Amino acid sequence: MFIINYFYVKSAGFELIAVLSITSKLKMESEMTSEWKKSGWRNKQRIQMPEYLDQAALNAVEVRLSSYPPLVFAGEARSLKAKLAAASRGEAFLLQGGDCAESFDEFNADMLRDTYKVMLQMAVVLTFGAKVPVVKIGRVAGQFAKPRSTPTETIDGVELPSYRGDIINELEFTPAARIPNPENMLRAYTQSAASLNLLRAFSQGGFADIHHVQEWNLGFANAAGSAQKYKDLAKRISDALDFMTAAGISSDSTDALRTVNFYTSHEALLLEYEEALCRVDSTTNLPIAGSGHMIWIGDRTRQPDGAHVEFCSGVQNPIGLKCGPTISEDDLLRLIDKLNPENDAGRLTLIARFGAGNVGDHLPRLIKAVQAEGRNVLWTCDAMHGNTIKSSTGYKTRPFESVLREVQEFFAVHKAEGTVPGGVHFEMTGKDVTECTGGFRAVTDEDLSSRYHTACDPRLNASQALELAFLVSELLESRHNAACKAL
Ligand code: PEP
Ligand code: CO
Repeated sequence: MFIINYFYVKSAGFELIAVLSITSKLKMESEMTSEWKKSGWRNKQRIQMPEYLDQAALNAVEVRLSSYPPLVFAGEARSLKAKLAAASRGEAFLLQGGDCAESFDEFNADMLRDTYKVMLQMAVVLTFGAKVPVVKIGRVAGQFAKPRSTPTETIDGVELPSYRGDIINELEFTPAARIPNPENMLRAYTQSAASLNLLRAFSQGGFADIHHVQEWNLGFANAAGSAQKYKDLAKRISDALDFMTAAGISSDSTDALRTVNFYTSHEALLLEYEEALCRVDSTTNLPIAGSGHMIWIGDRTRQPDGAHVEFCSGVQNPIGLKCGPTISEDDLLRLIDKLNPENDAGRLTLIARFGAGNVGDHLPRLIKAVQAEGRNVLWTCDAMHGNTIKSSTGYKTRPFESVLREVQEFFAVHKAEGTVPGGVHFEMTGKDVTECTGGFRAVTDEDLSSRYHTACDPRLNASQALELAFLVSELLESRHNAACKAL
C-alpha cells in the first residue's frame, strides 16, 4: 500500500504499472510458498528417520540417486490408480502382500519367485470367489525402511540404536552396524531395480499363466491334511478353466490368461530416498514418486502436519494410509483433505489395522465419518500389524486364527455399514518359514525357532497365506451371492 501511494504521488502514468508489477510479484511469491516441492518435507517435523552423521556422504548419495532412472513410470501408477478406483466400487479386489522388510542378505531369484508365485495363487483363488479382477501389489522392490517402537534396543545390558531396515543400518547387534549408512540407499535402489526386472519378466514371460497357477493350487489343496473344502474349491476353479478351454478361450488365444499386471509398493519412510527418486511426469507435468507404484504412510508417521504426509500429498501415485486404533475421525478427515483434496477415486487406500477383536470399536466410526463427508476411499484390511503377540517361547508371532478373524470382522463391519471391503494386506513369504502360528499345517509355539528368518515382523508362510486366500475367497463368494440375490 505504501509503495502504491508513493508511485501515485510521483506520477499517475506510473501508477498502473507499479500496481501490476507488485500484484504479480505477490502472486508469484504466494504461489511459490503454497506450491508443493519435493523437498518441502524438510521444513516439517520428521519422526522415525535416521540422523546421518556424515552429511557430505548423504548429499553425495542423494545427488547420485537423483540422476538415476526412476524405477516405475507414471503411466503405470495411473493405471494402478484406475484399478484401485474400481476396487473402491467393488468392481475389483486388492491383494497387497510381501515381506515386512526386504533384506540384502536374503535377496535371490528363488525368494522373489516363491513369494510372487504364492501371490498369483492367492489371486486366482480370490478372483474365483469375488468374481472380479484381483489387483496384485507386492510389498517389494523398495520395502526396506522400518519404523520402530523404540529408538534403541537393549540386549544383555548393552544398549544400541534400533535396526531400521537394510536401507538405513544393519541388523547385526554391534555399534558399527547400527550407524545409519547413506550408501545403503544405493544398494536398495539396485536391488529394487533387479527385483522389478525379474517381476516384470515373470509377469509377461509365461510364468504367470493361469493354468500353471491352478496346477500349483491343486497341489496345495490335495496335500495330505488339507481340508475337503479347499479341494472342492480348487476343483471348481479347474472345471471353470476346462470349460473355457473347451469354448476356445486358452492361453494361446487370450493374453489375459498368460500374463498379469503386478505392481510394487512400500512405506515411504526414508524421505531422502523418496525425494531423490521423485520425478516430473512428462505427460502431465506433475510430480511422481519413482520409487514404486504405490507408496504408503505408516501408522506411526501419519501426523497431518508432519514430513511424511507432506511428501505424499504432492506426488501423483496411489497413496496408502495405515489406520490404527489411535486415529481419530477428525485426523482421518484432515488427512483425506491433504492427501486427496480432489476426492479422486483410487488415489487413497485406507489400510485398516486394528487387531482381531478391535475392528468393531474403530472401523464403524471411521467409515461413518468418511461416508458423511462423501469421500472416495478404498478400504482394505491389514490383518497383520494389530495381531502381533509374544509366544510362550519368546518369539514375536501372529496367530493365524487372529489374522483370519480380523479379516472376518472387517467384512462384517462393511456389510453392516453397506460399504465395500475392497482388499486385504498381508505380510507373507513364499518360503516355508515358521514365524506365525496355526494354519492347517499347525505351526506351534515350539516350532517357531526352527525356521524363524524374518528381519522384522513375523510373516505368513506359503501354506498359511494360501489357506487364508481360500478362506477369504469363501467370504467374497458369499458376499457376491448375496449381492446377486438382492438384484
Ligand atoms: C508395516 O506395514 O510394516 C508397518 C510397520 O505397519 P504399520 O505402520 O501399520 O505399523
Ligand atoms: Co511389518
